[in-house]
Amino acid sequence: MPLVTSAEMFKKAYDGGYAIGAFNVNNMEIVQGITEAARDLSAPLILQVSKGARAYANHTYLVKLVEAAVIECPNIPIVLHLDHGPDFETCKSCIDGGFTSVMIDASSKPFAENIAITKQVVEYAHDHGVVVEAELGALAGIEDDVKVSAEESHYTHPEEVEEFVSKTGCDSLAIAIGTSHGAYKFTADQCTRNEKGELVPPPLRFDILEEVSKRLPGFPIVLHGSSSVPQEYVKMVNENGGKMPDAVGIPEEQLRKAAALSVCKINIDSDLRLAMTGTIRKFFNEHPDKFDPREYLKPARAAIKELVAHKIVDVLGCDHKA
Ligand code: G3H
Ligand code: 13P
Ligand code: ZN
Repeated sequence: MPLVTSAEMFKKAYDGGYAIGAFNVNNMEIVQGITEAARDLSAPLILQVSKGARAYANHTYLVKLVEAAVIECPNIPIVLHLDHGPDFETCKSCIDGGFTSVMIDASSKPFAENIAITKQVVEYAHDHGVVVEAELGALAGIEDDVKVSAEESHYTHPEEVEEFVSKTGCDSLAIAIGTSHGAYKFTADQCTRNEKGELVPPPLRFDILEEVSKRLPGFPIVLHGSSSVPQEYVKMVNENGGKMPDAVGIPEEQLRKAAALSVCKINIDSDLRLAMTGTIRKFFNEHPDKFDPREYLKPARAAIKELVAHKIVDVLGCDHKA
């Protein structure tokens, strides 16, 4: 089947109490690892491309890699989505260039300006059969070249969501309830420690999610910054020459709970980076004489596949929903 929009996927996910995984893609091995997992589990899928990914790999290469995955995985619906579109021009370029979904992220702008930019993107996108994700609230962390400090970040104000959605016409809404981008989501002093001495982050603000859902019944909500930073991969990185002290993410049970509520799209990128980097570091540590990229990218691709399969089954609950 050709690339699809997320409209039908989100409706089924909302009604079925699960979420669609939105995984960031930057090269062929990442595309293959993710799509092979989704294909084997008959899971609907969103592949997303950031501004940084387009700068790194080139728009056309990424679109063609995703089109290849569509051919290789005829049993599952796949969306090609722009992640964190910074402005109208970037969204337009992706809409004109084959994407079926775009995010306009004007969340750092004042409310009225966020509405105006989002509305402009929605009008152009809808005229071209493309859906739009927007954002209200500001997540801490780094996206492309934008760094939002913990002090600048703020939760979504539920009292703003109805006006925002009705004035912009956006198709889904990313909200801030305590997730953040990157592998260092919380400082050690924001966390407590469990009996094993591991950092335990503060819980997500489910009260905000519930209030938003009450105000927007049936409307798909998106969570960014939803990597869980698996400690096995942090350990693998650190035991093989890396240095990632106190990296900590969002506990998977909390994401599963969000997926059963109104959250229909969960964004995961850092976990894939960790799996790939940990695997490659281990490979080089164990095989200092090897230099064929196929030899170290093969286990890295397999690690991504295994991780995505785990997310699909245990976190998103979207296996066998295609
Ligand atoms: O939220 C941002 C994603 O993790 C993409 O990261 O901008 O480094 O490609 P990137
Ligand atoms: P993570 O950094 O938690 O993987 O978040 C990714 C994301 O939100 C992409 O938009
Ligand atoms: Zn994001």
